[in-house]
This record gives sequence, structure tokens and C-alpha cells, in this order.
Amino acid sequence: MNSEPVNAYKKTKGTDLPSVSRRIFTLVISQWLRLLSAMLCMMVVAGLTAATAYLVKPVMDDIFVDKDKTMLMLLPLVIILLYLFRGAAFFGQAYLMSYVGHNLVKQLRDKLYSHIQVLSLSFFHKHDTGLLMARIMNDVNIVMSMVSQAVTGILRDFFTIIGLLCVIFYRDWKLALIAITVLPLAVIPIVKFGRRMRKFSTRTQEAMADVSSLLHETFTGTKIVRAFGMEPYENRRFFEKTLRLFQYEMKAVMVRSLSSPVMHFLGGIGITLIIWYGGNKVIQGTSTPGTFFSFMTALIMLYEPIKRISELNNMIQEGMAAAVRIYHILDMSSEIEERQDAVALDAGRHSVIFRNVSFKYEDQMVLRNINLEVKSGEILALVGTSGGGKTTSVNLIPRFYDVTEGAVLIDGHDIRGMTIKSLRNQIGIVTQDPILFNDTVYNNIAYGNLNASESDIIAAAKAAYAYDFVQGFPDSFNTVVGEKGVRLSGGEKQRICIARALLKNAPILILDEATSSLDTASELAVQHALENLMQGRTTFVIAHRLSTIHHADRIVVIVNGQIVEDGKHEELMARQGEYCKLYKMQFENNNCQKTHESK
Ligand SMILES: Nc1ncnc2c1ncn2[C@@H]1O[C@H](COP(=O)(O)OP(=O)(O)OP(=O)(O)O)[C@@H](O)[C@H]1O
Ligand SMILES: [Mg+2]
Repeated sequence: MNSEPVNAYKKTKGTDLPSVSRRIFTLVISQWLRLLSAMLCMMVVAGLTAATAYLVKPVMDDIFVDKDKTMLMLLPLVIILLYLFRGAAFFGQAYLMSYVGHNLVKQLRDKLYSHIQVLSLSFFHKHDTGLLMARIMNDVNIVMSMVSQAVTGILRDFFTIIGLLCVIFYRDWKLALIAITVLPLAVIPIVKFGRRMRKFSTRTQEAMADVSSLLHETFTGTKIVRAFGMEPYENRRFFEKTLRLFQYEMKAVMVRSLSSPVMHFLGGIGITLIIWYGGNKVIQGTSTPGTFFSFMTALIMLYEPIKRISELNNMIQEGMAAAVRIYHILDMSSEIEERQDAVALDAGRHSVIFRNVSFKYEDQMVLRNINLEVKSGEILALVGTSGGGKTTSVNLIPRFYDVTEGAVLIDGHDIRGMTIKSLRNQIGIVTQDPILFNDTVYNNIAYGNLNASESDIIAAAKAAYAYDFVQGFPDSFNTVVGEKGVRLSGGEKQRICIARALLKNAPILILDEATSSLDTASELAVQHALENLMQGRTTFVIAHRLSTIHHADRIVVIVNGQIVEDGKHEELMARQGEYCKLYKMQFENNNCQKTHESK
């Protein structure tokens, strides 16, 4: 897990082992009816397993030794019934416990997903996608194994062991005493092998996670891999990782394959001793073959449940470690918190004020003392050098991040006092990097307003000058755009994003380089559409191409996180400052004043 920066998120509750176990327990116990039924089934399985061992004696003595014909008819019938019921009970407990486990998986996954949805954006900067996917997919599964196998195991095996112990003591208590003193010796290698197994399985899992993140990274960045001719390099990296995985897997295979023969050998020695002792008693006539074989059967049957119970500890430890990792995320609270007394921001026109706003992502101040007032319905353009802090400042309005100092006010009220939903409802945004989902064009636009009718969506597409090219697609609006919209050109993506923002029809509009990928003609057209749309809305336009912001009511120049100039185009040109310099560079004119005058 990555180290957490202090202010990225706060931990609220303790994620210690007891509290996590308690919370997992609460989740499991909420399915008490199924658990109870499963437990009953387990007891039946355990009882009937012991009964099988018990029946070995009458089978042996009555059928094979005494050659009793009635018993020959009766006992097979009993055995068939016994296995039938045992099978039914086994099915019941396996099904019910898996139900409990999978249900827990669903609950945990849903909880994690919806929790991650409310965490602030800074959370995503600290945790990479691969890691979060591992939490939601793998860790949750490990917890499920713990719950459905360990819980089933511990109860069923415990009952089975009790049942079988009863049988061996009933058959020959002296021999039983000898056996159970020798038994712990057999458990030692089981525990030792188990520990090694766990070590390798953890390493295997880590190696596997490594392979998946490499896959994720190289497949999404495949264009760069090709462009830089890095296929052999990436192959090498991948082969190294799969080699590591292979080596760990082989070590695990080694332990696993060795554990069985070693244990069987030790078991063989034990059985030999018992055959020698028991055989002696049968020969002397103090015991019957039935008693002896019934004893032996029960003893051999004890092996499996004891082995499983001794491995249980590992499984529980692994499961708890995974649960702790899951709850670690579940216990993070978003840095962007809604106050208890938050009020809804009413729909309508809004003014936006930045009052002494400073902001830092990590240690370094990215915005310094920004003071800005945008009246309702005003169009404000933000320009400036790359990395100056334009995107960062508009990100503060929908509270993607909270200010470090100062405040952002809407209609005179601090946005931190508003409900997040109502605040974001009032804002339409086109982000700098066009973000689309792997869905149809139609659904991508509809994302802006799920209640919109088809005609609204078409109107939005038309306003964003997207309608014509969408019509040209083979499936028109039903064309799927591919992951992150890969099947569209840069300009097409931007226009879909604009259509989506238009559909939302929000009174505050943020356009961050919304038309930067369009050719001049399309940009002009979309620009006209946007200008119409901006009427009456409080708009923030960020643009590098200064020709696109002439119509702005006011232009603010941000350099190095500070506002260096503020005014109308003509004023700023006349000032011959930073804006004029930028303008001059774009229009290749040597004199600022001249440029202005020649306009
Ligand atoms: N998530 C982040 N974590 C840390 N620093 C960041 C993060 N995002 C941006 N920055 C830094 O903040 C500064 C301002 O970035 P910002 O994206 O606001 O610039 P910008 O003015 O929009 O630039 P551009 O015109 O290139 O889009 C940059 O120095 C950048 O490196
Ligand atoms: Mg930017």
C-alpha cells in the first residue's frame, strides 16, 4: 500500500484487527438464518461421517466374520441411506456457506465501490488503478474464502473430529489414547508446510498483481510503446515478471507436492504401529477384526479434518489481512466533506468570488492569493502560461479540491457550506482532457442529464457541432466510442464532451480548453454555439488560443499561480504587459500597441 500523505484523506475509525473482525463478523452474522441452517447441515455431515466409520465394525464382524445373511441385506441399505443423507447435508452446507460468502463479497464490493466514488480526487492521485482493482477484486475474494471455507471448515471439521474421536474411543480407548498422543506429532509437519505454503502464496499474489499492473499500463499506453519501438523492452519486462511468478509458483508446487508424501509416510509409520498393536490384540482374541478396522477407518478419516483445521489459521490470517486492507479504504473519509448544516444551492444565475484563495496539492503552493469576482452572467477568460494554475483554479469551484486558504463564494456564500450535489448540479464542465466512457455516443451525451429526451440530446449534439459527424458514423448515435473514446478523433471527442455539458444546461459553465483540438473552421462554429450558450451564464473559459476569447467580458492572466493582469482585451493590450506578450507571440507581431491598434 502506498504511504498516505497527511492531508489527502483522513482516517476516522481504527482499522485494527479486533475492530475489523467485529465488523466482518457483523456482516456475516446478519445472515444468521442461513448460517444456522448451514450449521445444522454440518452437524449432520459430521455425525454421518462418524457413523460410516462406526459401521465398519458390523460390516466386518457380522458379514465377513460371522457370515450373517440378514446383515448382508440390511447393512448395504443402511450405508446407501447414510451416504444419501450425508450427500444432501453436504450439499446444503456447501451451498449455504458459499451463499453467505458470495453475498458478503457483493456487499463488500458494493460498499468499496460506492465509498471510493465519494472519496476526493486526491485519493486517486495516491492510489493507482491496479491497486484499487486488486482491493475490489482479489482482497474481497480472499475474505470470502476465509468466511465460506474457514467458517464452514472450522464448524464441520470440529464436529467431524468430535464424532470420529467418539468412535475411536468407543472402539478401543487404550489404542485411542496412544493414537491421540502420537497425533500432535503428525500435526507439526502440517503446520510447518502450511507456513511455507502461505509465504509462497503471498509472494505469488504479489507477483501476479505486478503482472496485472504491467498489463494495464502497457495495453493502455500501447500507442507510445509502438511509437518508441519499445516492444522488445516491454516484452523483456513482462518476461521477467512472469519468470518471477513462475518461480514462486514452482516453489509453492514444491512445498505442496512434498507435503503429501511426507505426511503419508509419517501416517504410514503411525498406521504400521497401530496394525502391529491392534493385530496383536485380534490374534490374542481380545479384540475383533471389526473393532480394529472400525478404529482404523475413523483414525484415517481424522486426517483430513485435522489437516484442514491446522491450515485454518493461515487462511484466517490471510483473510484478516485482506479485510484490514479493505477496511483501511472504507475508513478513509473524503477530504471534501459536506457539513452537517450544509444548505442546497438554489438553481438560477450565480456570481462566483475567489477571496484570497491559495491552494497547494502537496507542499508547494500552486495558487497564491487569488482574488476574483465574476458577476452573474459574466464571461471570464483565464489565460496564462502552461502550468500557471488555470485548471487548478476552476477545479476549486465544483469542490474537486478545497482551498488551502481563503474561500470560494457563490452568491456571497462559502461553497463549503453548500451540499455538494446541489453545488455540482449548478455547474457544467468541459474538462481539459476529454473524458468519455466506453458506451454509445448517445449515452455519453445523455450522461449530462439522464432525464433528457432524444430530441434534447440531438439538439445538444447540433449545438456542439457534433451532429453531422455522428450521423456519418455507421451506427450514428448508437456507435460505441471505445475505451476513453479511442475511436474518435480529438476534436470529435471534444465536441461530444461539449454536447454533454450543454445538455446539463447549468448556470455556471467551465470550459477548459474545450475547443483546443478543433480546426479553425470548426472551432469558429463551435465558438459561436458556445457564445450563444454563454449568454446569461456565469462562464469560465480557459484558452491558449487567444483569438477564441475576444468576446469575454474580462480576461484574467494567471502566471505562476498568481493573477498578474485583469481587464478587457483592449485594456490589457494597451497595458503592454503579460497578456500583450502572449498575444504578440501568437500573432507574430513585434509591437503590442500596434497589434492592438491594427485590430
Ligand atoms: N494532481 C496534482 N498534484 C500535484 N500537482 C499538480 C496536480 N495537478 C497539477 N499540479 C501542478 O499544479 C500546477 C498548476 O497546474 P494546472 O493544471 O492548474 O495548470 P494550467 O494553468 O491549467 O496549465 P495548462 O495550461 O498546461 O493546462 C502545475 O505546476 C502542476 O504541475
Ligand atoms: Mg490546464
